[in-house]
Amino acid sequence: EKDGFEHFMLKEIYEQPNAFRNTLLNRIDEDGKQIVLKDFPLRPEQINRFEKIFIVACGTAYHAGLIGKNVIEELARIPVEVDVASEFRYRRPIISEKTLVIVVSQSGETADTLAALRESQRLGAKVLAITNVQGSSIAREADYVLATFAGPEIAVASTKAYTSQVIVFYLLGLYLAQVKETLAETERECLIANLRQLPEQAEKALQHADDIRVYAESIKNHASLFFIGRGIDYAVALEGSLKLKEISYLHSEAYAAGELKHGTLALIEEGTPVIALVTQKELEEKMVSNITEVKARGGNVLAITLEGNVELHRNVDEVCFVPATLPVFTPILTVIPLQLISYYTSLALGNDVDKPRNLAKSVTVE
Ligand code: F6R
Repeated sequence: EKDGFEHFMLKEIYEQPNAFRNTLLNRIDEDGKQIVLKDFPLRPEQINRFEKIFIVACGTAYHAGLIGKNVIEELARIPVEVDVASEFRYRRPIISEKTLVIVVSQSGETADTLAALRESQRLGAKVLAITNVQGSSIAREADYVLATFAGPEIAVASTKAYTSQVIVFYLLGLYLAQVKETLAETERECLIANLRQLPEQAEKALQHADDIRVYAESIKNHASLFFIGRGIDYAVALEGSLKLKEISYLHSEAYAAGELKHGTLALIEEGTPVIALVTQKELEEKMVSNITEVKARGGNVLAITLEGNVELHRNVDEVCFVPATLPVFTPILTVIPLQLISYYTSLALGNDVDKPRNLAKSVTVE
């Protein structure tokens, strides 16, 4: 059932292009002009009534929510707050009928996320669930469900479910933008055209596995690693760091790159591995200046960037390229090398990749 792969995690990483295709299927009209979300049958006047969106989830699904915030705010200009479900439910969130709550859960059974859903409904909000398991408790209780069609995810470390959640946020962000008319038609069509290319581009991003295997060997004996990025890249840094901790047991931290000099830079020593996500053109100069600070303290920097950005070579030790796309779509491609780094590091250390210590696939206790 592993289809010749050594682990479910690797199989699931490679299943991502198809998971994206299945998640996009029937959700874009034939001529690529409009997003069609039959499972979110709200009238435009209902959508226009939402003054605020909450995204609530745990772990990797929370990280998908951070991307979702960036996407929805950027495309549809609706304010979005993202919260960890175990915090949200106990902090008397300010919610009304004018709030849309989006819960994100691969399994649809996470106790805190389910409780957040119930609390939101009790406070009068409509709840939209993004989930991978159709008959799950969260799918049953939510007012609306946008399914991810990632197929069963067996490895404890989430990969294809996470990226499929991000795909749903792209669809939703574009859909809300369409209803609210926040984008010019040509702009939307260009975004949709780029969205459709992501499955193929993900296939290309998977081709770096051999180089990443070598890189994983080089970091496996380090006590600590850092992931840095700005904006949407910071959200990806958080996911890369979680994935690495989860299955390699190496200590790592993700930082908004501008925060480094407010404390963390003190931890950079000769040889400390730093993985820098550099995909946003308008933030690149700032990223390069942060990378230079890291390098001045002896840090060893791997940059993950878009194909064509060759000048970056001058500022870092190594570069990993992913196919070029529009700024909003880069997370889905840059996370792939990060997933592979965590996989190969865990493998190199001889860990049980699919069943990391102390963790369960579905967290149904609080
Ligand atoms: C990490 C991971 C967890 C889950 C979290 C939420 O790789 O898998 O962080 O994302 O436990 O699970 P779901 O999405 O099932 O609610």
